[in-house]
Amino acid sequence: MEEFIPVCEPSLLGNEKKYVLDALESGWISSAGKYVSEFESQFAKFCGVEYGVGVCNGTVAIHLALVALGIGKGDEVIIPNFTMIATAFAVCYTGATPVFVDADPNTWNIDVNKIEEKITKKTKAILPVHIMGLTCNMDEINKIASAYNLSVIEDAAEAHGATFKGKKAGSLGDIATFSFFANKNLTTGEGGMVVTENKEIASKLKYYKNLCFPLEGAREYKHDDIGFNYRISNLHSAIGLAQLEKAEEYTNSRIKNFNLYLQYLNGIEGIFTQIWDNSTYKHVHWMNAFYIDPKIFGRNRDELMERLRENGIDSRKLFTGMHAQKSLQKYGCTTDLPFPSTINLSENGFYLPSSSHLKEIQIEKVCDIIKRAKKV
Ligand SMILES: Cc1ncc(COP(=O)(O)O)c(C=O)c1O
Repeated sequence: MEEFIPVCEPSLLGNEKKYVLDALESGWISSAGKYVSEFESQFAKFCGVEYGVGVCNGTVAIHLALVALGIGKGDEVIIPNFTMIATAFAVCYTGATPVFVDADPNTWNIDVNKIEEKITKKTKAILPVHIMGLTCNMDEINKIASAYNLSVIEDAAEAHGATFKGKKAGSLGDIATFSFFANKNLTTGEGGMVVTENKEIASKLKYYKNLCFPLEGAREYKHDDIGFNYRISNLHSAIGLAQLEKAEEYTNSRIKNFNLYLQYLNGIEGIFTQIWDNSTYKHVHWMNAFYIDPKIFGRNRDELMERLRENGIDSRKLFTGMHAQKSLQKYGCTTDLPFPSTINLSENGFYLPSSSHLKEIQIEKVCDIIKRAKKV
């Protein structure tokens, strides 16, 4: 039978089994236990910040960050129009309104030149997303944020280990959130983390994540605020700690694989990817993402994906823009056009197999099929 190349599989090649078994045997399978605190502190260190607060996924991580910053009904939060829906939904959970800014056509990240025109008296925060593992231009975003007194929350769900001017994703704003879903560069199966340098914010994160149980003193079951159960388990954290030990190896593999894609796709006209400057940005390539210009390539994106599928290769479309989401229209978001970059990416964009342990021969095969799919 022909080999099937999945779009992404977790690489579980280190101490995952050993640590999970240890956690199981210890009996600490809920949210207390040594792996939770160890994973939190090691991941914070990995990001170059003081505090890490583990949660059960990357979506609630964003919600918790917004709650800790006091964002709620009547507020507006600026987000990229080209992102995964979780970024927008998390804003909606607080009662605030997400406001969309189109993607930069080169980096695919939020277009920093279009942020200011969306700021109103209600704006409380900018929530940039480091798309596909490429950080945003955080100097520009932080400059705008400080001019208008706004908080900055990095949605770094896709960017573990990425850097901007040598500083890690997670340390580039007031607070940052990560996802550890199975396809992420580092995974816990399901899981997430909020990281920050700010002690007061970290205390709020811990408080709201655990149903607003007081952080100190005896348990009286008296709760002064409405909180959430967003805890991560010791079992998931055990996987996370093992993954963290392999962070450098997995990051290097993703970068190497992307460069192999570039090498094997070289010379095929009509296929494009993000554009960035390696001296400023370390892109960690969560997914090997591209878009085609059907006029040059001779086929449209869906035809190309079908050709890949027929040859046993899995791929995915890029995100649909927030402006085009019925859910967000019903919620009352302003979705007026134009969003030309988002529309281009969502109509013509796709990502190719991206597992860290992908083999060169598989990448070569994928690129060969793309080459043969192009109409000359
Ligand atoms: C940019 C972004 N934000 C948030 C999330 C949500 O993370 P999770 O699936 O862990 O809830 C994702 C997930 O892929 C994402 O890509």
